[in-house]
Amino acid sequence: MLRVSELKKGFGSGRNRLEVLKGINLEIQQGELVALMGPSGCGKSTLLNIIGGLLEGDSGEITLEDFTYGTRPPNKVVDVRRKGVGWIFQDFHLLNQLNALDNVVMALELSGINSDEAEKLAKDSLIRVGLESRMEFIPDQLSGGQSQRVAIARAIAGSRPLLLADEPTGNLDVKSGEEIIELFKELCRTDGISILMVTHDPILASMADRMLLLKDGLTAASDIRSAWGEDVEEE
Ligand SMILES: Nc1ncnc2c1ncn2[C@@H]1O[C@H](COP(=O)(O)OP(=O)(O)O)[C@@H](O)[C@H]1O
Ligand SMILES: [Mg+2]
Repeated sequence: MLRVSELKKGFGSGRNRLEVLKGINLEIQQGELVALMGPSGCGKSTLLNIIGGLLEGDSGEITLEDFTYGTRPPNKVVDVRRKGVGWIFQDFHLLNQLNALDNVVMALELSGINSDEAEKLAKDSLIRVGLESRMEFIPDQLSGGQSQRVAIARAIAGSRPLLLADEPTGNLDVKSGEEIIELFKELCRTDGISILMVTHDPILASMADRMLLLKDGLTAASDIRSAWGEDVEEE
């Protein structure tokens, strides 16, 4: 459902030029949960931003279902952002003044869905992530794991086929983090959503269907074993 071909991206010019992505090739199937790992500063967020239509690559191509882009500027890939991808961030990005329901409703309204429909979709997706009893709570009244579930409800509410999660468990304790990955797996299995998630945690990464390692500007398909030097012990 997603294919990235020979994607290159650098920043700056002349002596300050930094080549970050040097020809990324990757594919994600429908219903797949893929973990993206790699050292800090290697370009994981840059790659997600380009796939998500927030940034343009210098060369290469991305196909996401019917969308073809990669080097088109962000203002030319509005549909990718509105219909193609949902985002999940480390620090949730919820509006603190709005309750869980209104956080999800507002995102749907911004994408052009009318209020009645938005409220119905928002409730469905909050139920989907296990928050039916927390819809009226504002973020301050929710735990980190619950806040991230609101963000996931927001990301899936518009029926977007691909979720991009940039360190989604970075602010969560171990147990909440694992619960979020379990929820991701369930969304992949039962709803056919595809998820590309950045994580630094090898245990969480090993829960994914597959792991990609981004290093020196290139991705390598990898199992957890080879990525961590062959000596990871069997569970
Ligand atoms: N807008 C930008 N302008 C200049 N350099 C950038 C910009 N965005 C990212 N970089 C640089 O690109 C590299 C990759 O950044 P990033 O994608 O955020 O890495 P990661 O998410 O893997 O930690 C870093 O060296 C970072 O400083
Ligand atoms: Mg990053």
